[in-house]
Amino acid sequence: MNEQHLWWQSGVIYQIYPRSFMDANGDGVGDLAGVIQKLDYLSDALGVDAIWLSPFYPSPMADFGYDVSDYCDVDPLFGDLATFDRLVEAAHARGLRVIVDMVPNHTSDQHPWFIESRSSRDNPKRDWYVWRDPKADGSLPNNWLSVFGGPAWTWDEQTGQYYLHSFLKEQPDLNWRNPQVKEAMFDAYRFWLDRGVDGFRIDVAHHIMKDPDLRDNPPNPQAEEYASAFKDMGEYGRWLHIHDKGHPDVHQVYRELRQILDEYSAERPRMMVGEIHEFDLEKWAAYYGPNLDEFHLPFNFTLIGVPWDAAEVRRRVDAIEAVVPPGAWPNYVLGNHDEHRLASRFGVTQARTAAMLLLTLRGAITLYYGDEIGMTDVEIPPERVQDPWGKQVAGLGLGRDPERTPMQWDDGPNAGFAPAEVERTWLPISPDYPEVNVAREVADPTSMLALYQRLLALHSQSAALRLGDYRSLGGGPDDCFVYVREHEDEHLLIALNFSGEERVLDGDAYAGGELLLSTHLDREGALETPTLRLRAHEGVIIGKG
Ligand code: GLC
Repeated sequence: MNEQHLWWQSGVIYQIYPRSFMDANGDGVGDLAGVIQKLDYLSDALGVDAIWLSPFYPSPMADFGYDVSDYCDVDPLFGDLATFDRLVEAAHARGLRVIVDMVPNHTSDQHPWFIESRSSRDNPKRDWYVWRDPKADGSLPNNWLSVFGGPAWTWDEQTGQYYLHSFLKEQPDLNWRNPQVKEAMFDAYRFWLDRGVDGFRIDVAHHIMKDPDLRDNPPNPQAEEYASAFKDMGEYGRWLHIHDKGHPDVHQVYRELRQILDEYSAERPRMMVGEIHEFDLEKWAAYYGPNLDEFHLPFNFTLIGVPWDAAEVRRRVDAIEAVVPPGAWPNYVLGNHDEHRLASRFGVTQARTAAMLLLTLRGAITLYYGDEIGMTDVEIPPERVQDPWGKQVAGLGLGRDPERTPMQWDDGPNAGFAPAEVERTWLPISPDYPEVNVAREVADPTSMLALYQRLLALHSQSAALRLGDYRSLGGGPDDCFVYVREHEDEHLLIALNFSGEERVLDGDAYAGGELLLSTHLDREGALETPTLRLRAHEGVIIGKG
């Protein structure tokens, strides 16, 4: 293997939402001890290379852990620091890297920093958050909105000012223009690096720097285009968010943070992947840094909002390939804890072709827990709704509970997620668990899990898939996406049929190849003719001499 390719480039990252993965202590909520129990599944049965843990820090859980009240500890709901250390040790012993989720844009309103900050106007931590007077007419300081609905400003009665929150009012934004804030947060990063983590997923990384003058956002002339390219965020989407996030000063902060990671990387490589939602691809690519000295990877969400359409998927992949700077590394993701399950967005049958797409594109890959067994969105009865976004913005389907339901391990009580005596898991378990679960799928050679296992095994064995170049091929049926991955003398051709009908592909490209894998898991071997017949929703990987 090419020494220049590091674990986060050629490996596959698996996202764990700790509340929903495995409940070891029987309180209906997943925990870190539960993750430890399942490491063998991840490293051996599935074969991923790294895990990303969504937040497990002390938190009042207004946003299920993305409202942090202490950056350097573990919430008792999930365990304690000793359990975290055991997890890192056990993961490393299996060759799995560990990525933790940092939330630098905001704290919880119960964080001691904010409690101090709001205690009086002259408190030394007042300036750690963004406080403003109302306008002369008594109205809000500006027109910024919270992502989760309503204004981004909440009035504080005691000190007679507004504070800024880009998300919930329980998530006040830190003032990153205050050097003490930056130092305190950098220390939190060091805390986890010292504990042995291999990297960070950085929550809404681009949000930390706003316009210093807090100018109003203008209306968004491309609101509809954005809504159809990603998702309709209601009133929030009608504004162009040029002043409330992504101010150019943000790049300097991440260059400094990168230097800290680089110091630690002398020992072994550490990485950071930023959650950056940026519609303009040039601006998105700028987060790699002018000298590739910022994010190792800015998360690429371009395939999250894509319709299941071969031409559009190809267009978006080619656009990413064109914009990733020379020497930088692309990445792809199809699911996470904020988006509807891929099997629900694309369809259960299409999810198999989507799995092949994800694991054969050029770049780092992130998988969301449960997608490997084909979990779908779960309908949540109104009395069990948890997610504040779903509660605050009605009617747009923005609630994220459906994609956060407990992992389905077997067909026993609580789907094997929680001990049998647990009466109620934090979110309901999908009714499809007797069929869709790890134990059943491990034993079924044609299951979704079997497909992921084969794809992951091929990915780890094939230099073309891990390191190779990418080139899309034209000339075939419109509803097929065909591309080549090549490294030295290994040539692979991937052909994906997005349609519900048979498609025939002709030409030299297919002649003399060997079919290595079909999404249907029912054929392989030498291709006799130059004609390739793809059945409905079939994807294939073909090896060529
Ligand atoms: C990110 C997280 C999301 C969270 C929000 C606020 O988008 O992925 O789950 O609610 O930031 O921290």
